[in-house]
Amino acid sequence: MAKHYFIVTYGCQMNVHESEKIAGILRAKGYSSCDAQEEADIIVFNTCCIRENAENHAYGNIGALKKLKRARRDLIIAVGGCMTQQAGAAEKLRKKFPFVDIIFGTHNLEELGKFIDEKAGGRKKVVEISDERDDLGDDEDISYRTSYPNAWVNIMYGCNNFCSYCIVPYVRGRERSRRPEKIIAEVNSLLDAGYKEITLLGQNVNSYGNDMGKAFTFPALLSDICKRKEKFRLRFMTSNPKDFGEELVRTIAENEQVCNLVHLPVQAGSDRILRLMNRKYTAGEYLKKVELLKKHVPDCQLTSDIMVGFPTETEEDFQATLRLVKEAGFSTAFTFVYSPRSGTKAAAMEGQIPEEVKKDRIMRLVELVNSQTREISKGYLGKTTEILCEDYDKKKGLYLGRDEYGRMGYFKSESNLIGQFVNLKITDASGVSLYGEVQKPNTKEERI
Ligand code: SAH
Ligand code: SF4
Ligand code: F3S
Repeated sequence: MAKHYFIVTYGCQMNVHESEKIAGILRAKGYSSCDAQEEADIIVFNTCCIRENAENHAYGNIGALKKLKRARRDLIIAVGGCMTQQAGAAEKLRKKFPFVDIIFGTHNLEELGKFIDEKAGGRKKVVEISDERDDLGDDEDISYRTSYPNAWVNIMYGCNNFCSYCIVPYVRGRERSRRPEKIIAEVNSLLDAGYKEITLLGQNVNSYGNDMGKAFTFPALLSDICKRKEKFRLRFMTSNPKDFGEELVRTIAENEQVCNLVHLPVQAGSDRILRLMNRKYTAGEYLKKVELLKKHVPDCQLTSDIMVGFPTETEEDFQATLRLVKEAGFSTAFTFVYSPRSGTKAAAMEGQIPEEVKKDRIMRLVELVNSQTREISKGYLGKTTEILCEDYDKKKGLYLGRDEYGRMGYFKSESNLIGQFVNLKITDASGVSLYGEVQKPNTKEERI
């Protein structure tokens, strides 16, 4: 009988993409996917530990499997991802969830197939958390992708920045860039296969190549990828403002395929807080970079990550964040409540902010961000924007896709347009979502 897998993913796009690699490994072992945990022969949790609530979700859901495992002793439960790689985490998981069969770290993902064999061969429990590895183990693309027409491609792993609040450098190791020829080969084969949108992934894509003697830079990599002449979109995540500069801005401006949307996490608007966060830029420097971007790419939109409640943050500091959100004119932003992460510098700082103050600030921040998003949405009304159709929403009975700026657009169509670029004349723009009518090519239109 065919064996089935079920993967539960938490965290960032890096993890979403890594779950595609896990799926690839499981399929190579003869498993196929299923729709419910109860039908699975192996359940893999790909975890995140960026904030406490991400961990709590995973803990809750792993704990809930105890019963299932008791009823089906041959079920394999595996836990991987960032949570397992934290100091002491494997031991904690082992004690808390004795029924988990395989615990593997972020540097052990490629070995999952081997661990499953070992388990089948009688090894009682597999716990493998390695320190960083030298080879990236990424010679071939093992991903099983289900996100057509979009595809993620890693360009680098790890992070060297040690922002004082952040756990990522501890669980993902130091920066390691993939060779450009490997990246380009992977992108080319995705484009050959008909993918229409490629998102390059790294914690700080601007430092791409630094670990290879700066022989390759991120802008050069983008330009190389854009030598392909067919129509496709190129995105990247994430750009750290400290290394965001003119060469990259010019590359965005010069290459049609690179989306005019930059995700540039600012975190806070107060220089004092930015310094404590170890972000290595001031609010003024950040805004200068935004200005530079708008000068070269006037139709550009900007999104961000913003945090409230960092240790010692005062109302005045928070007001500086609100001011910066307005000045930078973010079209949208991911907003977070600071969550102390054990082992990071900020977790040990004096002046942790009470929960109710954090709550009050996040609500005010979200309201401001939403009002900016709504304003930009209104600007879409009556205009035409190009959508890459990526899915069909059964409940709504509408196709959907995103425009260059990441804005979701919904529309009716008799034929299946998934994987195609369509011009959408926007008739309704409530909140974040747009609704519109497909325009025939060559229709006269006012573009967004
Ligand atoms: N490498 C990216 C960020 C990856 S983490 C960058 O530097 O831009 C994604 C976001 O999570 C961060 O931008 C930050 O806003 C948030 N984050 C990270 N650590 C956090 C913590 N301890 N508490 C709350 N939010 C956090
Ligand atoms: Fe974390 Fe900073 Fe690295 Fe981003 S750049 S992953 S916020 S340490
Ligand atoms: Fe991503 Fe969470 Fe790890 S945000 S890098 S999955 S800690």
